Amino acid sequence: MITKPKGTIDITGSDSLLWEYVNSVVSTMMATYNYEYIRTPIFEASELYHRSVGESSDIVKKETYDFKDKGDRNLTLRPEGTAGVVRSYLENKEYASPDVKKYYYNGTMYRYERPQAGRLREFTQFGVEVLGSDDPIIDAEVISLQYKILEALHISNLQVNINTLGDEESRIKYRDALVKYLEPHLDLLCDDCKERFKTNPLRILDCKVDAESPILKKAPKTIDYLTKDAKERFTTVLKYLDLLEVDYEVNPKIVRGLDYYDHTVFEIVSLDSDETRQSVLGGGGRYNKLIKELGGKDNYGIGFACGVDRIIALLKEIDLYQNVKKEIDCYVMYVSEEEKLNALPIVQNLRLNGVVVETNNLNKGLKGQFNEADRLDAKFLIILNNEDLKLGLVNVKDNHTKEEVKIDISEIVDYIISNL
Ligand code: HAM
Repeated sequence: MITKPKGTIDITGSDSLLWEYVNSVVSTMMATYNYEYIRTPIFEASELYHRSVGESSDIVKKETYDFKDKGDRNLTLRPEGTAGVVRSYLENKEYASPDVKKYYYNGTMYRYERPQAGRLREFTQFGVEVLGSDDPIIDAEVISLQYKILEALHISNLQVNINTLGDEESRIKYRDALVKYLEPHLDLLCDDCKERFKTNPLRILDCKVDAESPILKKAPKTIDYLTKDAKERFTTVLKYLDLLEVDYEVNPKIVRGLDYYDHTVFEIVSLDSDETRQSVLGGGGRYNKLIKELGGKDNYGIGFACGVDRIIALLKEIDLYQNVKKEIDCYVMYVSEEEKLNALPIVQNLRLNGVVVETNNLNKGLKGQFNEADRLDAKFLIILNNEDLKLGLVNVKDNHTKEEVKIDISEIVDYIISNL
């Protein structure tokens, strides 16, 4: 038997209902915050990720799915959504818009990681990218949108861990201080951190292996190296978050694993999340240099992405979601060919009027159909028989109260809709 590739999942059965539910909450919330849906390709030129996510990031160093197509082009399956959205913004000259561009996406991403709970090779993210504004009101909106979507999904005990990397000047000052501090202690850090010291020393701060090392606990904090402007900016973001009722904690260890960030960076966790799983549900930050890096003019950007697979895993632990069931409004029953010919337009009409309908798709007898309708928990049974059809009537049975009435075929849609 052929099986699915390592690190991928099939979404079926009750899981697929949960996925549909999450997607519908996401798209509704995105619409109320006035975000526009964007879809970019699942593969892009490899160079896009080298220039954005960064050569020194774990993603580009060891996790991308790279391949050459038949035209000898170097392509990469997208490991994340930001780079593609910024590429599209530039390529389609959307920066010419007089308004801030607010995009959202929801799609699969690919990273060659060691599969474990909450860490897949094909996984799904929904996220947003806001391009064209440096106003801290946008930082607060993006963070609160992420928070409020998770809250709308009934995930409790949410906390945003937030930090700032500051502007260019703050970051250079901080990097120098960190390098000076870490250099004498390098021997005590893991091999990956020794490598990071050369390529991107900030990443040492969020190393999982050295997380408890006293060296890292006492390391200098970005917040102490900010310029006056960068500090003020961060204070304003926090003030706005208070107004928007977002629960946050300033955490100097949040530096994020992708190279494109500056100023605000954040990750969101549920404190209820099982310790054995990956508890970070989403993360993001500002990336004001990225647009120029990808060939545009100086401009501003910020966004977040949430891991849907992790959200679903968490939802499955909550009682509220254990009984998510597909709701069927009507089951249309028939036996003879003549009855079937009458059933077809009824099924079609009801469906086109928004009623969820199923019918006899396996030539079952009446008993089999009653059983199927019960399995589907249909609210109404519409039972066709030749005698009633001659009079233009059908039987409608309320499958819960068991009450039965005869209805004129032409009135069936109105009757069902008004009784649902
Ligand atoms: P990221 O932190 O790499 O950020 O990923 C965001 C979220 O995607 C993570 O918090 C996690 O929930 C989920 N995720 C990441 N890798 C995996 C995996 N292997 N399996 C399952 N879930 C995973 C970004 O991707 C940035 N593009 C976010 C961003 C948008 N920054 C600015 N704009």
